[in-house]
Amino acid sequence: MESIAYVNGAFVPLSEAKVSVLDRGFLFADGIYEVAAVLDGKLIDNASHLARLERSVGEIKLKLPETIERIQEIQKELVARNNLVSGLVYLQVTRGADAGRDFAFPKAEVRPTLIMFTSQKEIVDAPSARTGVKVITVPDIRWTRRDIKSVALLAQVLAKQAAAEAGAAEAWMIEDGFVTEGGSSSAFILTQDDVIVTRQNSTDILPGCTRKAVVALAEERQLRVEERSFTVAEALAAKEAFITSASVFVQPVIAIDGKPVAAGKPGPMATRLREIYVEFARNTAV
Ligand code: PDD
Repeated sequence: MESIAYVNGAFVPLSEAKVSVLDRGFLFADGIYEVAAVLDGKLIDNASHLARLERSVGEIKLKLPETIERIQEIQKELVARNNLVSGLVYLQVTRGADAGRDFAFPKAEVRPTLIMFTSQKEIVDAPSARTGVKVITVPDIRWTRRDIKSVALLAQVLAKQAAAEAGAAEAWMIEDGFVTEGGSSSAFILTQDDVIVTRQNSTDILPGCTRKAVVALAEERQLRVEERSFTVAEALAAKEAFITSASVFVQPVIAIDGKPVAAGKPGPMATRLREIYVEFARNTAV
């Protein structure tokens, strides 16, 4: 059965879900997106994703066409209409379709475009969570406001394509010798003295919702966490490395640029944090 998408107020079959060629998201990447996971038919950590959505749209002076409460209702209705048990809800809001191609914001009242669709994905029992994933490194060629979850993802498209061509699942982006983050995930290591390290939030990275939850869950359990930059050399000398995102939760990284991290196998900390996160996800789902 064809899945159902949401476009500006209407629930329609995906093949009929369309926006104008003049949509500013299409022409200028003038838009913001969010991806939230769904488990047991419920949204995971959605308040965190919606808070980031509000922040992102505020940073680009884009007004949401619906309230946050209504957006969550639409997400839930879409999950229900698609009978989605495990997967993702994608949400995108753009500055709408103006009368022509003008860089500056539309002068007249142009209604922002709001679209959503879902995709089925096994997140908890993903084979890659058991085997771990390989990453490659690429220069971070993105703009300097990476804290905004903008739909301008060309640098990540190129980074993740390079990873795919190298047989890796993710690309870690490098700037001034330090890892910023993955193409679509936050990067972590566990040092030899058992400190969980992930880069501090700034305009250099997206403030990951999963990152935030994992850091809080680790600290609640008295695990040592340091938010600071780390290098690839440090990651290769670490006990463990892992990534976090709404679409993978926590996944071990077993190799970087073809070199093994520690024994080249998923480590106990990533496995434990994954279990803790899944439990948190299930207990807080809405
Ligand atoms: N990506 N860093 C980047 C650059 C990302 O694109 C993402 C998420 C993350 C992790 O954020 P979170 O934990 O809130 O999902 C970090 C989504 C999943 C995507 O683009 O598909």
